Amino acid sequence: MFLVGCILLLLGTVASEQCLAISFSGGGSYGAFEASVLSTLANILPKGQAEYHVVEGISAGSLNTAILSMYPYGSEADAAELMSSLWLNGGDFAYTNWPGGVLQGILFESGIFSSSKAYEYVSACYSKPSIRRSAVGFVNLDNGQYEIIKETAGHEAFFLGTMASCAIPGVYPTVQMNGHTYVDGGALLMMDVMSAINRCFEIADSQEEITIDMVAVRPRIIDLNSDKMNSLEVYSRAKEIKDFANSLKHVLWAMSAYPNVNYRYYIMPLDILPGFRGLNFSKEIIEECLKAGTNATEYYVKNKIYAREVVHQFDDFTIYPSN
Ligand SMILES: *[C@@H]1O[C@H](CO)[C@@H](O)[C@H](O)[C@H]1NC(C)=O
Ligand SMILES: *[C@@H]1O[C@H](CO)[C@@H](O)[C@H](O)[C@H]1NC(C)=O
Repeated sequence: MFLVGCILLLLGTVASEQCLAISFSGGGSYGAFEASVLSTLANILPKGQAEYHVVEGISAGSLNTAILSMYPYGSEADAAELMSSLWLNGGDFAYTNWPGGVLQGILFESGIFSSSKAYEYVSACYSKPSIRRSAVGFVNLDNGQYEIIKETAGHEAFFLGTMASCAIPGVYPTVQMNGHTYVDGGALLMMDVMSAINRCFEIADSQEEITIDMVAVRPRIIDLNSDKMNSLEVYSRAKEIKDFANSLKHVLWAMSAYPNVNYRYYIMPLDILPGFRGLNFSKEIIEECLKAGTNATEYYVKNKIYAREVVHQFDDFTIYPSN
């Protein structure tokens, strides 16, 4: 009888397992911000509260995802350390010229820069099997569909998927997988909360058992003085506005589709991060982004500011038209 009781109890716990997930958005060198958000969460939350069962990311966030996926529960701070060192080395691999330079990239390749060094650096970091539920997203350039790959596809396939997720269209070469051509998931969406929730349903039975943290790198939209911007600044500012709203929109969709999930933290920088929209990988800039991640995380956690409150402040930017 005792044994039966134990078995029932065990089944009971298995059936009602909690799932904790983290979602990392895209954002180039701002991936460094996400690394320090993770290490700060691991440091300041009570034990177990940053032990994520599921990790999901787009573009820069996919690199952080691949790294976190290798570490056992409880080693999140160690994973964040490896992420930080990858970002601090970004200057060595982010802008690798083709032998024929930028002209070769523009005229003869599928990206302005070569990704050969990035492949080397990332494969050196992503050196162990993924042992957490993970997903990274990219866009199929042939048919326009958004797709994800999970760690269950195997180490090599997940690595390639991560590189596809980082292949900023036109900037880095496209990635071939299963007979299709892929680019950065950020071409379509910046934060794929829905995939993280879907993976949580592999272990949780109900929305109430799912908790998700989200890390975004675009700052609050603030009023800039834009009248003196040059063309590149206007282009990148417009992209920043789009990416900001795009991260939030997908969170709002998830919130309306799964209203009972616990949307815990939505952490974003408190100020615009330095480094020209995530394109500058100098060590100095990366270090600032790391500091900003700690600062922002402490702010949200200590002041008990939760995701819904953060996201709904921006309804004016995500609901059309704004007044
Ligand atoms: C990147 O930032 C560093 C430090 O602020 C600066 O010295 C450098 O010129 C920047 N690089 C580019 C390409 O803007
Ligand atoms: C650090 O956090 C404070 C709020 O706690 C904020 O006012 C400040 O702008 C932040 N600084 C940076 C560099 O993010």
